[in-house]
Amino acid sequence: MKITDEIEKRRTFAIISHPDAGKTTLTEKLLLFGGAIQTAGAVKSNKIKKTATSDFMEIEKQRGISVATSVMAFQYQGKQINILDTPGHKDFAEDTYRTLTAVDSVILIIDCANGVEEQTKRLMEVCRMRNTPVIIFINKMDREGRDPFDLLDELEDMLDIRVRPLSWPIGIGATFQGVYSIYNKNLNLFAANKTKISEEIVKIADLEDPQLEKIIGEDATAELKEELELVEGVYDDFNSEDYLKGEVAPVFFGSAINNFGVKELLETFLDISPSPIGRESSEGYVEPEDKDFSGFVFKIHANLDPNHRDRIAFLRIVSGKFERNKFYNHVRLDKKLKFPNPTSFMAQDKSVIDEAYPGDVVGLYDTGNFKIGDTLTEGVTFSFKGIPSFSPEIFMELENKDPMKSKQLEKGIQQLTDEGVAQLFIQQPGNRKIVGTVGQLQFEVIKYRLENEYGAKCDFTPRRFYKACWMTTDNRDQLDQFVKAKASYIAKDKDDNYVFLAETKFLLDMAQQDYPDITFHFTSDFKVK
Ligand code: G4P
Repeated sequence: MKITDEIEKRRTFAIISHPDAGKTTLTEKLLLFGGAIQTAGAVKSNKIKKTATSDFMEIEKQRGISVATSVMAFQYQGKQINILDTPGHKDFAEDTYRTLTAVDSVILIIDCANGVEEQTKRLMEVCRMRNTPVIIFINKMDREGRDPFDLLDELEDMLDIRVRPLSWPIGIGATFQGVYSIYNKNLNLFAANKTKISEEIVKIADLEDPQLEKIIGEDATAELKEELELVEGVYDDFNSEDYLKGEVAPVFFGSAINNFGVKELLETFLDISPSPIGRESSEGYVEPEDKDFSGFVFKIHANLDPNHRDRIAFLRIVSGKFERNKFYNHVRLDKKLKFPNPTSFMAQDKSVIDEAYPGDVVGLYDTGNFKIGDTLTEGVTFSFKGIPSFSPEIFMELENKDPMKSKQLEKGIQQLTDEGVAQLFIQQPGNRKIVGTVGQLQFEVIKYRLENEYGAKCDFTPRRFYKACWMTTDNRDQLDQFVKAKASYIAKDKDDNYVFLAETKFLLDMAQQDYPDITFHFTSDFKVK
C-alpha cells in the first residue's frame, strides 16, 4: 500500500469528558462496532475509585490499566482507528492535555443532565488553543435530562464554539426511542442492548416514510418533524471545512450504554474527521507525506516492575514510515537510536511491529533516554514545537527525609518529572525543589514511587502559590530587573526558563502593572524560542 493510502485510512483521536459522562462506555461501544472486543465489560474503567484517593494499590492498578488501554486500535469499514485513552481522574488532567497534542481530532462527551461541567471547559480550552476539530456527543438521553435546544445554547455560550446538530433525539428519558441522523437523513432504530451490538436495525429512508409513524408513534413523529424544522432554521448548514478548522462542532445525541446514536456518530466521524495531519517544527511545518520519518514523544510510562526501571515512551508518528531496528536521530541528545521491540497496541494486546505510519502511536522501551516532548527524525534533524506545560494548581516544596539518599532522590524526582508525573521548578539559592501538580494524588504517587523505585524518602511542605507564570518580553532589561526584584518568587522550569511563582492574583496584577513590557502566561506554549 502506498504511504498516502496508509495515511488516508487512519483516524487518530481521543474521547474526552468530565468524569462520569460516559467516556469508558462510549469507547467500549466503539470497540464493539469495530469487532475489537466481543462483549461489553472488556474495557476496564481507568477511574480511580473516588473513595480510594490514598490507596496506593489503586494508583498502581491505574497505572497498569492505563498502559494496556493507552491506545486502542481497530479497523472499521477499511479505516484504521486509533483511540488514544486519557485518564479519567481529574488529578491526571495534565496527562490528558499532553495526549491532546498527539491526536488529530476529539470526541467530547456531555452528560445530558449535567451539561457543560468544569473539566469539559478546561479540556475544550486546550482543544481551542490548537484548533483541534471537535465532535460533541450528548450522552445518557435515556435519562431525564435537559432540553436539547437548551443544551446546544449552553455549549455555544460556555465552550466558545459554534455547534451544529447532525443527529436528533426522539424523545428523552422515559420517552427516548433513538436518534434520527440529520447527516444521513435516515433513522436506525436499535433495540436497546447493553452488551452487544444488535443486528436488528430498522432503516427508514426519510421523514415521510410511513413506517416512521408506525414505529415511533404519531406524536413523536410530529414532534420530531417540528424540532428538525427548528434545527434547520436556527443552525447554519454543516460545513466540514469549518469543522476541520475547529470553528464549528457537529453535535450528536444518544445513549452510549444502549448503543443508541453510536453508529451514527462513528460513521459520520469516519466521513468528516481528519486523517493524520502534520505538525509545526523548528524547521517549518512537517507534512505526514514527507518521505523521512519523524515523530515525538507525548507520554512516558514507568513499567510496573520496580526492579527494572524501564519505561515505555509513547511516540506519535508525524511523517514517513517508522521501521523496526532502523537508526533514527534522537534530536535533543544528538544520538542515534534504534528500536528492536517497538510495540503497537491493539485493544488489550501489545505486539511488536515492524513498521508504522503517520497517525500511529508506537511504544518504545526506554532506559532513560526520553523526556516528554522529545523528537525523533530520519535524515535531517529538527524539533517539534514543545508540548505545553500548564500552570499547576498545587505547589509543594520537596524535602529530603534521608540525607544518605540525596542522590537517589535527585535522580528519582528528575525522572518522575521527565515522565510528566508533576512539574519541577528549581529555586535558588539552595537548589530548592518546588513540585507543582493539578491534583493532590500526584504527591502520593511521587512519594510512593520515590520510596519504592528509588529508595528515597521525602516529605512535602505546602507552598501557597496562585499560579506559575511563564514570561515573554522584548525588553530584556525589564525582565532582568523583575527577576532580581522578585528573586524569592522566581524559579526555573525543566527547560531552564524563568517562571514567576505568584502568591496571589493581586500580586500578579501588581507585577503586570509595574512591569508592563512583560507578558505573563499560564502555559508554556508561548515560550521564547
Ligand atoms: P467515564 O468513563 O466518563 O467516567 O464514564 P463511564 O463510561 O464510566 O460512565 C459513568 C456512568 O454512567 C456509568 O455508571 C455508566 O454505566 C453510566 N452511563 C454511561 N452511558 C450511559 C447512558 O447512555 N445512559 C445511562 N443511563 N447511563 C450511562 P456507573 O453506575 O458509574 O457504573 P457502572 O456500575 O454502570 O459501570
